[in-house]
Amino acid sequence: MAVFESVIDAIGNTPIVRLKRFAAPLKHNLWAKLEFLNPGGSVKDRIAKNMIEQAEREGKLKPGGWIVEATAGNTGIGLAMVAALKGYKLICIVSQKVSKDKVRLLERLGAEVVISPAGKKPGDPDHFISIAKRLTEERGAWFVDQFYNPDNAQVHYEVTGPEIWKQTDGKVDVIVAGAGTGGTLSGAGKYLKEKKPSVQAILADPVGSILADLYDGQTTTVGQYVIEGIGQDFIPGNFHSNVIDAAFRIIDEESVQAAYDLMKLEGVFAGSSSGCIAAAAAAYCKQLGGKGKNVLAILPDGGRGYMSTIYDDTWMSEKFPGKNLG
Ligand SMILES: Cc1ncc(COP(=O)(O)O)c(C=O)c1O
Repeated sequence: MAVFESVIDAIGNTPIVRLKRFAAPLKHNLWAKLEFLNPGGSVKDRIAKNMIEQAEREGKLKPGGWIVEATAGNTGIGLAMVAALKGYKLICIVSQKVSKDKVRLLERLGAEVVISPAGKKPGDPDHFISIAKRLTEERGAWFVDQFYNPDNAQVHYEVTGPEIWKQTDGKVDVIVAGAGTGGTLSGAGKYLKEKKPSVQAILADPVGSILADLYDGQTTTVGQYVIEGIGQDFIPGNFHSNVIDAAFRIIDEESVQAAYDLMKLEGVFAGSSSGCIAAAAAAYCKQLGGKGKNVLAILPDGGRGYMSTIYDDTWMSEKFPGKNLG
């Protein structure tokens, strides 16, 4: 039995499970990497640990100092977990759209939470990154900057990619992930392609995000969507477009239905971005020729953070009037 010195050491080595009933029948093998089994509940634990430890090594973070981050919630939760253990103070700027469950958890973990208005353009003083930069100056803090901090994609290159390679015995053919910062897909994709150049890195993108424009030549007008944590209105520095081969655009209804199906057909209780990613992985399998390829969907977080959103009937009927998803 593996025992760890702290919760930080328990980050990573998440299981991969076969999805046999979801979107069946498929000619290819669909797998899911369950990142919600990280101790803080998401893939973001990996980058929280790495970015903090790298900042410590570089002397950017002083004992007991302030950390500031703009986050869709999960990075904040990972940072709050690591900060609690290491004695740092944390402020998270989260968009209005982020679920109450995640905000409450951040506060419980000791973070100060600032809610920023949804729908603000990058550069607007009320955009969550502008607020983060302002607070960084005011508090003499270290700004984590997950969108541009190279230690984000780097940990997926050094750890997540090798983990997938080892777990699948090198049999992985395709990875499918969403991109908030782009770190997961860029880092893991780069490593796996170096090991096996035929590996495809596929982006799952909610309709309303501009990221897929880079692959299908469309010009998207930035739109609102309910899926949290993925899709973007700018190209983050950790989004390495050359690593990514293709994108699938998924509408909200399809993402939510896929999240419900993961739960009902596979017993996998995952978040809304996981629904989007699983739907994209199934769509990719359906259009891919041949058979028996190993397609791995990286599911970023679990369903508990969405009990007041996609898993709440009242919220769903307000967001999707007349639609009977289930
Ligand atoms: C729920 C959720 N899914 C997916 C992602 C995307 O991961 P990445 O930032 O590595 O692209 C994030 C983070 O932004 C997230 O919070």
